[in-house]
Parts: sequence; structure tokens; C-alpha cells
Amino acid sequence: MDAPATVRRRVEEIRHQIDHHNYRYYALDDPRISDAEYDRLLRELQDLEAEYPELITADSPTQRVGTKPLTEFGEARHLAPMLSLRNAFSDDELVDFDRRVRKRLGVEQVDYVAEPKLDGVAVNLLYEDGKLDRAATRGDGVTGEDVTANVRTIAAVPLRLVGARFPARLEVRAEVYISHAGFRRLNEAARAKDQKPFVNPRNAAAGSLRQLDPGITAARPLEIYCYGCGTMEGVALPDSQSAVLEQFRNWGLRVYPGIRKVQGVAGCRDYFKELESQRNDLAFDIDGVVFKVDRLDQQQILGHVARDPRWAIARKFPAEEKTTTVTKIDFQVGRTGAITPVARLEPVFVGGVTVTNATLHNEDEARRKDVREGDTVVVRRAGDVIPEIVRVEIAKRPKPAPEEFKMRTDCPECGSKVERLEGEAVARCTGGLYCAAQRKEAIKHFASRRAMDIKGLGDKLVDQLVDKGLIEDLADLYKLTQKQLAGLERMEEKSAGNLKDALKKSKNTTFARFLYALGIREVGEASARSLAGYFGDLDLLKKADEEKLRKVGDVGPVVAKHIVTFFQQPHNREVIAKFVTAGVYWPKVAKAKSTQLSGTTIVLTGTLESMTRQQAKQRLQALGATVAGSVSRKTNYVVAGKEAGSKRTKAEQLGVDILDEKQLLKLLEKEK
Ligand code: IVH
Repeated sequence: MDAPATVRRRVEEIRHQIDHHNYRYYALDDPRISDAEYDRLLRELQDLEAEYPELITADSPTQRVGTKPLTEFGEARHLAPMLSLRNAFSDDELVDFDRRVRKRLGVEQVDYVAEPKLDGVAVNLLYEDGKLDRAATRGDGVTGEDVTANVRTIAAVPLRLVGARFPARLEVRAEVYISHAGFRRLNEAARAKDQKPFVNPRNAAAGSLRQLDPGITAARPLEIYCYGCGTMEGVALPDSQSAVLEQFRNWGLRVYPGIRKVQGVAGCRDYFKELESQRNDLAFDIDGVVFKVDRLDQQQILGHVARDPRWAIARKFPAEEKTTTVTKIDFQVGRTGAITPVARLEPVFVGGVTVTNATLHNEDEARRKDVREGDTVVVRRAGDVIPEIVRVEIAKRPKPAPEEFKMRTDCPECGSKVERLEGEAVARCTGGLYCAAQRKEAIKHFASRRAMDIKGLGDKLVDQLVDKGLIEDLADLYKLTQKQLAGLERMEEKSAGNLKDALKKSKNTTFARFLYALGIREVGEASARSLAGYFGDLDLLKKADEEKLRKVGDVGPVVAKHIVTFFQQPHNREVIAKFVTAGVYWPKVAKAKSTQLSGTTIVLTGTLESMTRQQAKQRLQALGATVAGSVSRKTNYVVAGKEAGSKRTKAEQLGVDILDEKQLLKLLEKEK
């Protein structure tokens, strides 16, 4: 039987009431009804929906928990890239930041918005016409994991925005976290069931968001605070960060109430001190304060460098320190052969985790700190940072004093000579890929999520593959047979099959990921992306000399040298050829025909000094570039002259590279 109109109306009415009460409770922290009344409304809705299932909609408050667990998370591309933050560890660094901001803007004083830096997991919420359409993790900033089903279970996330006039599309940047109280309850429950407790609230939040079964996530005490806007379409963007947050609140999004607009660096310092003194009384973990230039037009002028906006900074709290003892000093071999001395420690809980190792970085550092086996040391760990030894408590040194630190002269792994070049801090094993340790690290890097993303190829497996001699070079990975894989420890037929599939899937990649995966020294993700965008083609990159390489945005003299050296090695060329034969493939970034610029789409905006836009257009076209009128994801570069406006902003939002006039001239010049 069709639901009568009265029932339909009542259902809609209750939903609006519930949305409104959620808004009062979560966004305003000012509930107007009791929990019992709220539950009664929800139950009435559930009953009506049970009677008339055709009335159930995805955004009904009863539909937070989906029915089916997922088999894997899909990928979600953010509309605007998710940026990161630069850190300031002292007041001086904060003062420098403010000075740079003022200088670039040409103003005496800047208003900032001060917010706590929440220690949780970043998510991106996409609202389409006011409805929660998708939620994703940050991932590499461009693409994350689709965790919509899990985020829907968080009660403080509105499934529909409230109020009127919300945008056609809205990307909300937020932090999902677990409070101290929630964390305690969670671990008590885990212990009661003889399960392993979580290490800290952040790990618990991250683990909860990554459950394939949203039913499990729903039972976790996840909370959220919204702090930024990625995209806002269809309504006028407010003119400041503080107004954006106010707007968020009016739409029912939960924003931390203690966020404040402050004036100049003095205001920032006061806020920092205040929050630092309250830190231990807060209901959740924070690891610092974020300061953002309030005015959005000023943010736009400032822009960003790689992933870090010039208009924001995270002033971190000093890291927690604890005392423990050094049981032994070992040496580790890294991907590039770097030999790193590591202090093995008596386990100590510091900065939210149990620490058992601390890096001594290199020979000079180890000597400077004068760390010896048996020493009592102060260790420190802040956030994601690797634990480090702050100092030795010399007074507590055992007697007779243990031997002084001595660097190894042979590789602990392969026995090759260890060499330290003049002027370098790092000592390296000279064994190259013959050194099993280097091979293992190279494979781990190759398989990692941001490189080839080979799921299921964990560290332990890589160790076995190398130890059993199944992999001599990286490309051998693709030759592994199901039988070889199934023969490894802790591998069954099924997981071997899964790994085979993951290997196959990884072959379909992007040029930038592949370049990054090769592990060329100093070529990180950002430079790999720039190189891929610039050359578009592996053959062109292979042939490039240092001079040519240095024309690429992120590439300086050292990186250029490493790249040339890498491609000169016959061994590396062979491995690359083997990859291609194995079927590793990526879509062409840009067609490189007669000139470097063919296949490149460029947008011109603003006023140029040395020529008209028309002239620039003709010259670029003559070199094979397509000159387009509007900025999209397909645009490779935006050339921004003076007074560049919305196109520049759009480019920033999409993460398209922006060139100034000087860079344009360079581009035109080198094509002659
Ligand atoms: S703003 C400017 N604001 O910190 C764009 N981030 O280090 C960058 N975070 O991935 C983010 N609280 O997970 C911003 N109030 C806050 C934040 C915050 C925590 C996290 C976020 C981000 C990371 C960057």
C-alpha cells in the first residue's frame, strides 16, 4: 500500500526536526531537547519507515549504517587538492612566517585565524546540493580512499546540510578524531574482550575509518571538526576563513568553538600560549596550533609552494620527553645504501607510542651526542616524527665508561666497503643492488602506496623474496609465479593469488608514480610529478642532460645530476626495459612530437609586460602548445601576468602549475 500523504509529510517533518536537533547539538553545542525526546523522534521515524519502506531515502537519519560490508575501498579524486602544512617549532619561526606573509602582501599587519591542530585523520567531505555525496581520506593529496560508508556513521557529520542557500558543490576539509574519553572506553572494551588495545587515539581513529564493515565503524566513538573549504560552487565564497567557518556552522557542520581571529604575530603568540596551557585539559589530542591568513583574497595572492600553502603554518607544541637506556647500537642500511646508526632502547612510552629504537642519523651526530651502549638518554617523539635522542645523562653513565661510538667500515648486510665521500654526512655501502638490504628497501619503496601501490606486498614478504634469491632486480617482481609466491611463509594459495592480481593491477600506473617508484635519489613525489608533466615521455627524460632537467620546476643541480647518473647506468636501463616488456604501462601525459610543448595545454591570464597575450598565444602555438581560454584539470600550465584573477584562483584550486612571466619567457626561449 502506498504511504498516505499524511505519513509522507510526517516522515519529512521528523527528518527535518532530527536534522535541526543534530545541528543544535553538534554544530551549536546547544541542544534544545533531551536525549529521550530525540530517541523518541528517531524511533517514530524508524517505525514509519519499517511500515512504508518506499519512504526510505539514503539521507534519512536512520540510514547511517549501510547494510553490506565492502570488499575494498574505491579511489576518490578530490576536486581541489588537499594541501599540507609547514611546521614552525619556535616563536622565531612563527615571526619569520609572519614577516614573509606581510612582505609578500605589502602590508603592516595581518589578521590570522587561530585553530587547534587536531591530531586525527584528515578527511574530505563532498556535499552535492546539500547532501553528503562522498567522503575520502587525504591519500596523496590528489586522490584518497573512498570511506563514505564509514564517515556516514559519524553522528556529527550531517547527511544533509541545514538552513537555506547551500552550495551546489561543497568540499569540506575536516579532521576525524577520537576523544580521550572515547579512547578509554574503547580500550576498556577491547581489554574486556581480550583484544589488543589501541596505541593512541589517532591510531584508533585511523583504524576505525579503515574498516571495511561500516557496522564496526559505527560502534567506534568517532568525532569530527571541520576546518577548511576545498571547493564551494554555486554560492558566493565568503571573503575570509573566519566567515567560511561561520557559514559552515550555519549549515550544521561541526566547527571547534575556540577558533579565534587574532591580530598579527602578537595575537598568534598569545593564542598559542593560551592553548598550550589548556592542552592537558582538552577532551582530545592536539599537537599544535594552526594559523591561517584570514582574508581569502590574501590567501590567493600568497598561493602555495608544492603542497604547503604560504598562508598557513602549524606552530607545533614541544615534543614530550622521557628517559630510558640504550641497550645496543646497531647499523641499518637504507635504500640508497646509507648506513644509519640506530640506538636500541629499553621500551618507553613517549609521544603516544612505545619507542624501542631511535635514529642517531649519522656518524657526526652520533659522535656529537656521544651516545654509548648502556647510557641513560632523554628521548623525544612528536607526532609522526621519528623518535630521537635529545641528550645523554652523562652523570648516569656506567663505570667504567663504555666504549665511544665507532662507525662501521663494512656493510652489516653484505660486507661491502662503507664509504663516506668528502663533504657528505652520510656513509654508504658500496654494494649497490648487490646488497640485499638495499634491494629490499628499493622493492619496499617501489611497492609502496604512493609508488606502484602493490597491495599485499608487505615488508616481511619482501625480505623473504630477497633472502630466497627470488628477486635480483626490481623488474623480477613481475616474473614471480603463483607457485613461487605460494611457497613463501605465511602465504596461502589465496593470498598468493591476490598478490599476483595486485602485481598485475599495479602495471597500469602513471608516469609520475613509475618515476617516483624507481627510487632515483632525491626524486620525491613532487619532483616526479613535475618531471612527468614536463617530459611526458620516458624516452625524452632518459635523454635529457642536466641543463635540460634544470628547466623543470622542482629540479635543482643535485637532483639533475642524480637523474642523469641514474639513466646512464646500463643496469638501470635494462631494468626499465624489462618493466616495459613485463607490461608496465602508463597513459601518455603529453604527446611529445616535434617540440616539447606539443600536447601541452596552457592558459594565459593577466597582463604581460614584454608582449601582448595574443603574441604570447601565437608563439606558444607555434611551439605546438594548445592555448585554451579556461582552466580545467587538463590544463598543464597557467601563465599568470599582473592582476591575474579568477583563472589563477581556479588553477590554484586544481593544483595546476602557475608560471610567471619570467618562466614563460624561459619556456619560449628554450624552444628556439
Ligand atoms: S589546514 C592549509 N587546519 O594537519 C591546508 N589542518 O599538516 C592544510 N590538521 O592534513 C590543512 N587540524 O589533517 C588544517 N585546524 C586545522 C587542522 C589541520 C589538523 C591536520 C590535517 C592536515 C594536516 C596538515
